[in-house]
Amino acid sequence: MPFKGIVVFLSKLSRMFLDEISKRRTFGIISHPDAGKTTLTEKLLLFGGAIQEAGAVKSNKIKKGATSDFMEIERQRGISVATSVLGFYYRDKKINILDTPGHKDFAEDTFRTLTAVDSVIVVIDVAKGVEEQTEKLVEVCRMRKIPMIVFINKLDREGKDAFDLLDEVEQKLGLRVTPLTFPIGMGYDFQGIYNIWEKNVKLFLGEHKQRKGTVVSYTDLDDAELEKGIGKKALEKLKDELELVSGVYPEFNQKEYLNGELQPVFFGSALNNFGVQELLDCFIDIAPSPLKKRAEEREINPSEKEFSGFVFKIHANMDPNHRDRLAFIKIVSGTFERNKPYLHVRLNKKLKFSSPNAFFAERKEIVEISYAGDIVGLHDTGNFKIGDSLTSGEEIHFKGIPNFSPEHFRYINNADPMKSKQLNKGIEQLMDEGVAQLFTLKLNNRKIIGTVGALQFEVIQYRLEHEYSAKCAYENLNVFKACWVDPEDKNNEEFADFKRVKQKFLATDKSDKLVFLADSAFSLQMTQQKYPSVKFHYTSEFE
Ligand code: G4P
Repeated sequence: MPFKGIVVFLSKLSRMFLDEISKRRTFGIISHPDAGKTTLTEKLLLFGGAIQEAGAVKSNKIKKGATSDFMEIERQRGISVATSVLGFYYRDKKINILDTPGHKDFAEDTFRTLTAVDSVIVVIDVAKGVEEQTEKLVEVCRMRKIPMIVFINKLDREGKDAFDLLDEVEQKLGLRVTPLTFPIGMGYDFQGIYNIWEKNVKLFLGEHKQRKGTVVSYTDLDDAELEKGIGKKALEKLKDELELVSGVYPEFNQKEYLNGELQPVFFGSALNNFGVQELLDCFIDIAPSPLKKRAEEREINPSEKEFSGFVFKIHANMDPNHRDRLAFIKIVSGTFERNKPYLHVRLNKKLKFSSPNAFFAERKEIVEISYAGDIVGLHDTGNFKIGDSLTSGEEIHFKGIPNFSPEHFRYINNADPMKSKQLNKGIEQLMDEGVAQLFTLKLNNRKIIGTVGALQFEVIQYRLEHEYSAKCAYENLNVFKACWVDPEDKNNEEFADFKRVKQKFLATDKSDKLVFLADSAFSLQMTQQKYPSVKFHYTSEFE
């Protein structure tokens, strides 16, 4: 090929590469349990043409009252591998929905998944308004300036007034909102949606509510047919409300949305297919393609040619007969190719993967190439930990996958002395997977497990027994919070004194970082006062 031909070919290739990346929309749906996350996910797949009928996406939530039902936990693990990433094409865009567990005991999994999304959709129940779990998750997204869209669900039920809800979202979630659709009525009187974004009305006809596509559209609020359709009173009310909306709320501005400064709101009913198409169509138009990501060394741009990515989730031992683990990698830049050697930065080791998986709505497939924004699933024999970086060769350590202080702490003891090797291996692998956190006391090397919810202790015990043939027993321990220790000066007298006096409460985490296990809020406060040059953090990552 002559030189000019090569240049043209290469520039075409480069354009194709950038085009692929700009098509990616990788996002998560977050909500308090029962607000309708699973239903909305399913309806997005349905409207996106990725599945043919409702009911295909199974709920991965742990049923109420099933805390001790291990089969339920296993069932949930089985489903969640299938729904971890749901990928599909819609209007020429590649959409990846990352699943986030709703159960609060698995909140840390959700926080970690949020490090791999480029935007989120927040689902709120119209009757319940803003709930606790939503507040926590939105706070994390707000701090990271992740672009957010709010979907107010279950409009077919009687709920709070739309304006009151918008107020609540602003107050409780600290967001600045602007509605892009508006409901016509609510509950029994719910008639449809005014689409502020596209400036049209869609009415949903009573007896056909359940079916996709039974909508009547009007482009003009003054259309006589519209008045016939919803009645004079409802139309007047709608016009008044829309006037209020345009008077009170800022106009939508995509830049502000992308900067996490403005959050568009949609209304609908996922179960009844109201307002989901509007949400999806607008999402495709406004949601970001892969974002830049900060690493310790520098900021990585998705359009860089060289591959980089990080592990945000590990699924292990689905089949107890094989030690199979699937590590989920978010591609931050470049392309990931099958059978190409990549650098595992923490181990300083080159690894090749012969069967990387890409995820689609109802299946996973081995793929030759994946692009920035995509998620690949890599079969792993124990090399990966959550947070590990994989690159073309550069030493990059991605930031933003901190451990948070657990809420519950217990000593873990070996209940079968013949199986101590198995127990240690099991504990180590479960911790790599991020099921819980392990702390080792400095004083006597005793192991302490810290978890977000009490449920994890049972999960660990069950999995140690079934997957590693090891038995453990727990012993209570009084810890209020794990605080990562950050001394101003590692060599000063004050720090030495702190380590000597508080020896009993000092431990190391899995990365050998020093942790102070405070036994009460009061003792933490007193310690802080006594040693002002030592800082205590509730997360393992701090500036
Ligand atoms: P989650 O994933 O956020 O936990 O919620 P999920 O989608 O499972 O929905 C929780 C419940 O709310 C389900 O009912 C679901 O059918 C219902 N739901 C979801 N969207 C709507 C809606 O727009 N309107 C109404 N009225 N209900 C909605 P369930 O009885 O708990 O479960 P199921 O037996 O229907 O599966």
